[in-house]
Amino acid sequence: MYRTHTCGDLRISHAGQEVTLSGWVQRKRELGAMTFVDLRDRYGITQLVVDDQSSDDLKEAVHQLGREYVVQAKGIVRERSSKNDKIETGEVELAVTELNILNPAELPPFTIEDETDGGDDLRMKYRYLDLRRNPVRENLVLRSQMGHYTRAYLNEQNFIETETPVLIKSTPEGARDFIVPSRMNEGQFYALPQSPQVFKQLLMISGFDRYFQIVKCFRDEDLRADRQPEFTQIDCEMSFVDQEDILNTFEGLTRHLFKKVKDVEVTDFPRMPYSEAIANYGCDKPDIRFEMLIKDITALAQAKDFKVFNEAEFVGAICAKGAGSYTRKQLDELTNFVKRPQVGAKGLVYVKCNEDGTFKSSVDKFYDAEDLKAWAEATGAEAGDLILVLSGDKNPMLSALCDLRLEMGDRLGLRDKNVFKPLWVVDFPLLEWDEEAKRFHAMHHPFTSPKKEDYHLLESDPGAVRANAYDLVINGVEIGGGSVRIFDSELQAKMFDLLGFTPEEAKAQFGFLMNAFKYGAPPHAGIAFGFDRLVSLFAGLDTIRDVIAFPKNNSGRDVMIDSPSTVAEAQLDELNLALNMKEEK
Ligand code: AMO
Repeated sequence: MYRTHTCGDLRISHAGQEVTLSGWVQRKRELGAMTFVDLRDRYGITQLVVDDQSSDDLKEAVHQLGREYVVQAKGIVRERSSKNDKIETGEVELAVTELNILNPAELPPFTIEDETDGGDDLRMKYRYLDLRRNPVRENLVLRSQMGHYTRAYLNEQNFIETETPVLIKSTPEGARDFIVPSRMNEGQFYALPQSPQVFKQLLMISGFDRYFQIVKCFRDEDLRADRQPEFTQIDCEMSFVDQEDILNTFEGLTRHLFKKVKDVEVTDFPRMPYSEAIANYGCDKPDIRFEMLIKDITALAQAKDFKVFNEAEFVGAICAKGAGSYTRKQLDELTNFVKRPQVGAKGLVYVKCNEDGTFKSSVDKFYDAEDLKAWAEATGAEAGDLILVLSGDKNPMLSALCDLRLEMGDRLGLRDKNVFKPLWVVDFPLLEWDEEAKRFHAMHHPFTSPKKEDYHLLESDPGAVRANAYDLVINGVEIGGGSVRIFDSELQAKMFDLLGFTPEEAKAQFGFLMNAFKYGAPPHAGIAFGFDRLVSLFAGLDTIRDVIAFPKNNSGRDVMIDSPSTVAEAQLDELNLALNMKEEK
């Protein structure tokens, strides 16, 4: 038997018992004739002691131990003379009688401690060692628990967990597909699913009624802190439901997870139309932990001779409460922030609302106290506040104001990671105009239904049609999205037409689905949560990488296994790819 207990088990009540532990050497201290070893496994750390009365063999064995050696220790549990109240086993130690080195270890490239000396790249290269560290492992334990509670909740609600294939045909979710060459079908390729969208709709036609899957999805898109090329969704679909049923069921799931995992009650799930989110927050995933709404002050700002504002399509402002005392340096930092290419503003205008009721602005040359007072009224600014103004084309400036608002929220400590504010963003536009391609794209995906009351706009003004589509946003993170689907093949054909597919193209790509719709498709709707994002929100992390056991880096590489990589010519040959590659060269 390798162990009778784990390294996290032993308490004062075990004193006097003979036990066996197995684990990794976290640390060794040799103090004169005594040697102390911290033995670690995933459950905790137990102190081992070899003292001067021990046999020479035992003394020799403990002397040989290095960091991360795998050892088995037998001994008697005893009360410690100097207790450690920082660890749960801190009242006891194991007086070792027998020590087996199960496997020696090379010196790890970084310290396996909560605070490590290893940089990001090194930790990714040796991810299996990084995973030995408590904070990283705890994130994955949290992930495992959340998966468990998700399954339990959905099971309880009669959902059937169904696996869908991974080698499929391109799914139109808007990102690029990863493709896989087929050996048996020369010149043809599978695509990895961007989501199981089409399959879950087919399962509704099969009468499954309630489907879910915790499923890997693949998207070849540029990576960010909240995006990985392979990520996991809690993917669901329901029949004979409308939008309200979906929102209720998934509010339920969200509440259940918060309660079970964090013992937090989240009660409010307000709803906000997309248009309101854009106008007030500049983006479709507002962080509603704080106000600081964007105000359109174009008319007020264009009343004078300030050319920059007069030539702008839009002048927008936010009021940062209590930031009126910002220094030159702080204002310069903000200016640099908005000028970053990712934010994209040309400059920043500020107005300080002084405690004495006067104003100090960067545009005092053009605007008098009366003008600035009107701005203050429009933005709700009072003495002690700071008004920040951006101008330019409307959409980019709304997006820049969104970034600036979040930056100010961070600076003013308004984004507490222990406060959770969910929000449903609803009534998304059905279509999105792609200026480059001069055509519409589906904002969510082509199976999303238009709102009935907007049907009449489908021909005349397709860009104005709203969809039965919704996103769940928590603390400014898009956690999930879904829609009520089209279930009538004629409307689906119309949608493909709007998206610029010829009937032949639509048939070639989605013929199977349109055909399936002819055999009795029930009304259905669904949603998918980004599981990695949800776990990282629960863990209070800024990136989803830390909740994925083996993530990719920002270039989409797994630096541990060194992938992607080239493959042998013979392998390419078998896939009928070698020839193409040579011809390319
Ligand atoms: P959508 O594309 O909105 O919808 O995706 C659902 C959720 O998945 C998460 N997500 C990601 N997480 C990490 N890395 C990525 N690259 C990534 N891309 C998306 C987000 C997002 O809200 N089939 C539809 C769902 C439906 O209509 O039922 C879909 O996939 O949290």
